[in-house]
Amino acid sequence: MSRRILVTSALPNANGPIHLGHMLEHVQTDIWVRFQRMRGHEVIYVCADDTHGTATMIRAEEEGVDPETLIEKMRLDHLQDFNGFNISYDNYYSTHSDENRYFSELIYNRLKDKDLIFTRSVEQLYDPEKNLFLADRFVVGECPKCGEPGQYGDNCEKCAATYDATDLKNPRSVYSGAKPELRASDHYFFDLPQYTDFLKQWTRSGAVQPEVANKLSEWLDAGLKAWDISRDAPYFGFVIPGTTDKYFYVWMDAPIGYMASFKNYCDSSNEVVFDDFWSPDSSCEVHHFIGKDIINFHALFWPAVLDGSGFRPPTRIHTHGFITVNGTKMSKSRGTFINAADYLKFLDPEYLRYYYATKLNGSSDDLDINLEDFVQRVNSDLVGKVINIASRCAGFINKQFDGLLSDRLHDEDLWQQFITAEKTIADFYEVDDTSKAVREITRLADLANQYIAQHEPWKLNKDAERREDLQLICSQAINMFRSLAIYLKPILPEMAKKSEAFLNVAELKWSDHSTPLLGHNIGAFKSMLTRMEMKTVDQLVAASAEDSPSDAKADSEVPATEVEEDKHITIDDFTKVQLKVAKVIAATPVEGADKLLQLTLDVGDHQRQVFSGIKAAYKAEDLVGRLTVVVANLAPRKMRFGVSEGMVLAAGPGGEDIFLLSPDSGATPGMDVS
Ligand code: 2FM
Ligand code: ZN
Repeated sequence: MSRRILVTSALPNANGPIHLGHMLEHVQTDIWVRFQRMRGHEVIYVCADDTHGTATMIRAEEEGVDPETLIEKMRLDHLQDFNGFNISYDNYYSTHSDENRYFSELIYNRLKDKDLIFTRSVEQLYDPEKNLFLADRFVVGECPKCGEPGQYGDNCEKCAATYDATDLKNPRSVYSGAKPELRASDHYFFDLPQYTDFLKQWTRSGAVQPEVANKLSEWLDAGLKAWDISRDAPYFGFVIPGTTDKYFYVWMDAPIGYMASFKNYCDSSNEVVFDDFWSPDSSCEVHHFIGKDIINFHALFWPAVLDGSGFRPPTRIHTHGFITVNGTKMSKSRGTFINAADYLKFLDPEYLRYYYATKLNGSSDDLDINLEDFVQRVNSDLVGKVINIASRCAGFINKQFDGLLSDRLHDEDLWQQFITAEKTIADFYEVDDTSKAVREITRLADLANQYIAQHEPWKLNKDAERREDLQLICSQAINMFRSLAIYLKPILPEMAKKSEAFLNVAELKWSDHSTPLLGHNIGAFKSMLTRMEMKTVDQLVAASAEDSPSDAKADSEVPATEVEEDKHITIDDFTKVQLKVAKVIAATPVEGADKLLQLTLDVGDHQRQVFSGIKAAYKAEDLVGRLTVVVANLAPRKMRFGVSEGMVLAAGPGGEDIFLLSPDSGATPGMDVS
């Protein structure tokens, strides 16, 4: 039976670039969407940029543009990145839209009519210089428990304590550095506790994965609190009806953005009716793909808000975990915090789509991207096993038989194995377990390769009497390749297109798996995907490290909220830094890195190796003998090209104008700088 399915990925924030953490989720969603479409279901896949909030407002102010201009530029940048990875949205919209304003107001008014909204005075930190209330992550100070400086207003990264921003010692606004004041104002609340029973039932209805349901149970058992849905002016967002200076909190209108993007699609396509999907008695499905950091918004607030305002709850929330790279958090300093646009400058998107598919298993567990394993899996399994089947046999069919495949199969039993695997593979796709789907596909590829090795078409080619066998065996192999191309199509849409051209067939559908191509003329075989080079991955990592030289606050699990760079350190932080004069003994360019030089430094009593991004400013040979200042007690960092034991300080606008100490400054290596 044909299903009607609306699918969404979480809406990326408009104030940062798309990175490989986002891409995991959008690739995961896209694979599921493409699978369902291939099966003949009606799928509408929408997304949008999540635009509202103080951060957008401040950033626009800093850049001297309207927030509207800023968010539209970001939206187009994001869309370009997603297009680069072949994410097949039907609409990529913005939460700052007329449709979203309409639905946000409608939902709010309906909740209010049902007595699900109330107001209460809230005390919050206020920046008296910027004249705005400060969200927790825009206040820094010392942890109230362990005293660690530079902690944000909700939890301590050192001792993991959670607290209120008002508990921080010596708090400062990250915007102005001003000491925040405590001020009271009226906030609007959604009365979530009224939905406790509804949510206890809904979260156990199969709408979320079992481990997610368990987490939600903990929250439900601990007791829900009313949800603060308003923020005071100034704020970039929608004004709450009936007020002039209260705005919907960004998390209130963000999920409504799913509906708004869908409505915009319905109005422009004129084929789909909004209410078919969102009315309380809808028989259509609504699926949200999200990261585990935003489960509460999607599996508690959102279903309750929808039900309270006369809409249907989601059919399923598909939750994935965070990614780590080479076993650790994505890190800017290690070059493993990789932006999508940078990835696309170096590598084919299909490599990553495939590798992500091999890792995603339908659970919300974290998953590790090991860069060597990445290269290995793509080369050995995809290029070496799957594509190899076609490349080994196509030439014989094209040269010896004018491209004509046999009119019967050579090994029916083997072919049956390819047909029967379909159900297993489809079941894995349905539950997002692409790792097992790929494993099953690889098992089939192994069977096909064994078959070719056993029948040795290259030998048959030399035997004029076995021409028919040659055609039969190569035709069987090409049919097995076609099966694999069908099963992999949701993951590898570009390879599927190239396979369709090679096979000389219309767009492959899932149901094609059961009918072999017989007595059919294929096209020429062209390279579908080349082998990956570890060298290119190294270059990408080096480029990502150079793009983001700062280590401060940059390491982050993904897709957690983007971490703002810390704007202030305390005097205590500063006194921890040990600065020493150093003399450059040797300087050499680093292969594969545009901006780096490898420096050997004399720091008085010993020598050190430091990598420094100053290649644009100096020829390596001109640096030898020059003096510089190094951060001598910086923990050694393992980089792609070696360990860096410190950091060279230079001043100037960057590029060609970076200044080191002059040779006649009177400084000597090892001298302390104070
Ligand atoms: O966590 C985030 O990046 C949010 N912008 C996700 C929003 S998803 C939806 F609710 F809009
Ligand atoms: Zn602490």
